[in-house]
Amino acid sequence: MGAPVRIDAMNEGDFAAVASIDPDAKLGLDQLRDERARPWSRLWVGREDGEGVVAFAIVWHVADEVHVLNVATRADRRRRGAGRALVDAVVCYGREQRVSRVLLEVRRSNRAAIALYRGAGFRATGIRSRYYPDDEDAVEMALELDPDTGQSLPRTDDVQLES
Ligand SMILES: CC(C)(COP(=O)(O)OP(=O)(O)OC[C@H]1O[C@@H](n2cnc3c(N)ncnc32)[C@H](O)[C@@H]1OP(=O)(O)O)[C@@H](O)C(=O)NCCC(=O)NCCS
Repeated sequence: MGAPVRIDAMNEGDFAAVASIDPDAKLGLDQLRDERARPWSRLWVGREDGEGVVAFAIVWHVADEVHVLNVATRADRRRRGAGRALVDAVVCYGREQRVSRVLLEVRRSNRAAIALYRGAGFRATGIRSRYYPDDEDAVEMALELDPDTGQSLPRTDDVQLES
């Protein structure tokens, strides 16, 4: 485990660091500004002392669902707990807001992300065939919550993933 990661709401001063974290996400400053202005958007960063912003998460909270759009950690700061801290913060937010589920899609080949979400209690609920522009399948994952107690409801995978 690396240095402790502090989770904060993303502010405008974080945008440049966030935009450089995951080039594949193609998030520019204007997109981040637009995203932060959406009433249903929630954006967080993970900071490390001496490093600044090392990770971020963007979710949409619509009705009784939280939908995870992006989670990414700077390449040189991975495997130090930042991704997990952000996913925990997202789930904590969902519990506080009494949502019924936290949802996401992830590339079928993205073993790191699938392992991260599984570790946080998410289960695979479906496959969206050729979901991404390059035709890769998406795995749909979900964490079901009891809105009254915030407890996560145990579930097993609905689809078989390669091990
Ligand atoms: C997926 C990603 C966010 C993980 O971030 P991270 O900060 O490295 O994650 P953590 O250090 O908190 O890891 C938590 C757990 O996730 C799993 N995990 C993370 N990276 C992994 C890898 N490369 N291989 C296998 N499991 C991995 C492990 O279970 C890990 O726990 P452990 O280190 O105790 O074994 C990071 O790899 C990333 O930014 N990838 C590119 C962007 C992306 O794919 N985002 C997800 C799509 S929404």
